[in-house]
Amino acid sequence: MPLLRTLRTLNTLRRDVAQLALQTVGLKKARVGAGKPVLYAKAVPAQSAVSPFALHVVDVVRETADAISIVAIPADGQPIRFQPGMFLTLIITIDLQEYRRAYSISSSAQEDSVVVITVKRVPDGKVSNWLNDHISPGSTLRVLGPSGSLPSPLAPLPQGEGKEARTLLLVAGGSGITPLMSIARTVLAVEPQTRIHLLYGNRSMGDIIFHAALRDLKKRYVKRMALTHVLEQPPKGWKGWVGRLDRAMFASLLDAILVNTAIAAIADLEVYTCGPAPLMQGVWEEVLARGLPAGRFHQENFTPAVAATDSSRFATQTLAIQSQGKTWSGLVPAGQTLLEAGLSLGAPMLFSCTLGGCGSCRVQVTDGEVEMPEPNCLSSEEKAQRYALACIARPCSPVRIDIPH
Ligand SMILES: Cc1cc2nc3c(=O)[nH]c(=O)nc-3n(C[C@H](O)[C@H](O)[C@H](O)COP(=O)(O)OP(=O)(O)OC[C@H]3O[C@@H](n4cnc5c(N)ncnc54)[C@H](O)[C@@H]3O)c2cc1C
Ligand code: FES
Repeated sequence: MPLLRTLRTLNTLRRDVAQLALQTVGLKKARVGAGKPVLYAKAVPAQSAVSPFALHVVDVVRETADAISIVAIPADGQPIRFQPGMFLTLIITIDLQEYRRAYSISSSAQEDSVVVITVKRVPDGKVSNWLNDHISPGSTLRVLGPSGSLPSPLAPLPQGEGKEARTLLLVAGGSGITPLMSIARTVLAVEPQTRIHLLYGNRSMGDIIFHAALRDLKKRYVKRMALTHVLEQPPKGWKGWVGRLDRAMFASLLDAILVNTAIAAIADLEVYTCGPAPLMQGVWEEVLARGLPAGRFHQENFTPAVAATDSSRFATQTLAIQSQGKTWSGLVPAGQTLLEAGLSLGAPMLFSCTLGGCGSCRVQVTDGEVEMPEPNCLSSEEKAQRYALACIARPCSPVRIDIPH
């Protein structure tokens, strides 16, 4: 069918552009094991973020009373390549209004013909509840990515290839298990020497996402994976840890890990965390206080999506972009973001989630004014230094921006 052929060609083109962009920005590709899919050694800026592609939903698994896993395959049959820790941006239309939301991939990056995302209901949340109530096998999802700003948890080459013994400490709360599940599944499979400690906090037993899958993973890698559940409201007879996974609880768990394993010092750990902000803050403060080098701590923020903007309020403006001594000049058509305009001018704009949640597209406004919807992931210090997120910033006057190196 001509339409199908055209779609396939567009999708192939989209992937070719993504590949070209990777080569242009000099990111390495690392092959992990013969015959296995290619895994990228660094976070991949998804140039495909400009062109959505389709995923066919083949299964929906109920994980808990308020969370589902959506199992999907690319509609064009092309492999879907990602780093563990990356996410997809879903474009969902509800009542004629378009919403964009990021969902971390929870499946192994070794598997490139199918992806799994897991969505937990947020009270009054528009998209998370809609997905939980409406998605079923046979549905089609429009997505961008995969993308993400977490550094790769895979050992860098040439020490990689599974030879180096490392210890990853993964700390999750609630739906924050999703990117860490992909990391655990992938790293345990491709690095035969690496050990993983997973600490997972939930309110009750019924809230544990991937309960059975985690048990199976631990059974499969019994010598290299340790799994500790922490429950605030445990069932009768529970023999595990009880309480909120806050800084004090994390400190006790860390003591137990350091005493019971061969890890000589905290600096030997690589820490990944994802969950509610107080949990991640507690982990950060504790590991920093104990001397973990900052570069060995990584967190994924499930920052709430920015509010929709009425883009018709914005007039066409001029734009000048500077990067490494070069300048690109042109117009930002009314309503477009700095990212959309910059890309069409050919400037080397970096981006990932396209929804103000990851910081990959940060630029500095050296002249003029821009407006961004709130909340977004910029800190108040960054805003004071006139940084903007190109993916959600629209100019209110002629502007000049610098792309940081
Ligand atoms: C990089 C990234 C990866 C993500 N991965 C996952 C994932 O794997 N699984 C998953 O379930 N979610 C994930 N999220 C969160 C997801 O993108 C949505 O924010 C979430 O599903 C809520 O969307 P909504 O439309 O239902 O809520 P909205 O209608 O946008 O918000 C409703 C209310 O809930 C608040 N809110 C929104 N999101 C959250 C949140 N995450 N926690 C607490 N309060 C919130 C809002 O401030 C608002 O008050 C991720 C977010 C990011 C940025
Ligand atoms: S691309 Fe993620 S914040 Fe802009």
